[in-house]
Amino acid sequence: VLLSWSKRIEEVEPYSQLAEIYDDVMRHVRYRQWAGYVAGLFSKSPLPVRRVLDISCGTGSMALELARLGFGVSGFDYSWHMVKQARLKAHGQHAPLQFWCASMTDFTTRRRYDAIICTYDSLNYCRTPQQCTRVFEKAYEALLPGGLLIFDVCTEKNSKQHFQNYYERDAIATCEYIRQSSYDRKTRIQSNEFIFRWAAQPNKTFKERHLQRIYRLDDLREIVLRTHLRLIGLYDGFTRRDGTEKSDRVHFVLEKPQR
Ligand SMILES: C[S@@+](CC[C@H](N)C(=O)[O-])C[C@H]1O[C@@H](n2cnc3c(N)ncnc32)[C@H](O)[C@@H]1O
Repeated sequence: VLLSWSKRIEEVEPYSQLAEIYDDVMRHVRYRQWAGYVAGLFSKSPLPVRRVLDISCGTGSMALELARLGFGVSGFDYSWHMVKQARLKAHGQHAPLQFWCASMTDFTTRRRYDAIICTYDSLNYCRTPQQCTRVFEKAYEALLPGGLLIFDVCTEKNSKQHFQNYYERDAIATCEYIRQSSYDRKTRIQSNEFIFRWAAQPNKTFKERHLQRIYRLDDLREIVLRTHLRLIGLYDGFTRRDGTEKSDRVHFVLEKPQR
């Protein structure tokens, strides 16, 4: 099937096609529970956390769940297509949510936040340590003293175990898609290729290539050490146990020190 799909493949920007079906593709993700977990981590802050900024908001699922819990949430994402979906979902919500387009490696905000989040391995899209440093520096500027930056990353164990040679084919009413993933141990790059064929455009095939770097936890610790943020927690999955290389996903909690 892939061969017949491959004839007229147009390569497009990551998330430009996926955005429209992202919530369907990610229907297994339990954002409500995840938001509850993240909200629990806010208790690590000496501040009462009220205002939260999501710096890779995607289609806004996490932001909406946090808003439901009573937090004032804003968010941005690099992909305009994702932001558009987030705005559609936020439309008509009880609490108004602002979403805009920006990069986590290069953003400024007028207000200061109690907490900044960057969830679902979005930081892995930073393919160099320098880019991670930029994210941490920008977050530092946008946080109030005592505020938290919470992000999660996938570990190499996760990539080796689940995405070394992964293939998935699925269809929803409007679109058929294929996802193929691979992991290169040398470069520590995980590649996820999505191929789409829309019911409305059956003669066209689109491809997105998403590249993520899988960091050693010690390397991330080192990067954090060279910033003004302080690592105050590193957790395994959605628990309060210590995160290690044996975890699939770890949550980092960094604090902007008060003094
Ligand atoms: C796996 S999705 C996660 C989205 C959302 N956080 C969630 O939990 O559903 C990764 C997101 O990171 C965004 N992203 C990648 N690089 C970015 C950057 N430099 N700045 C902001 N967002 C970025 C992508 O556009 C995408 O929406």
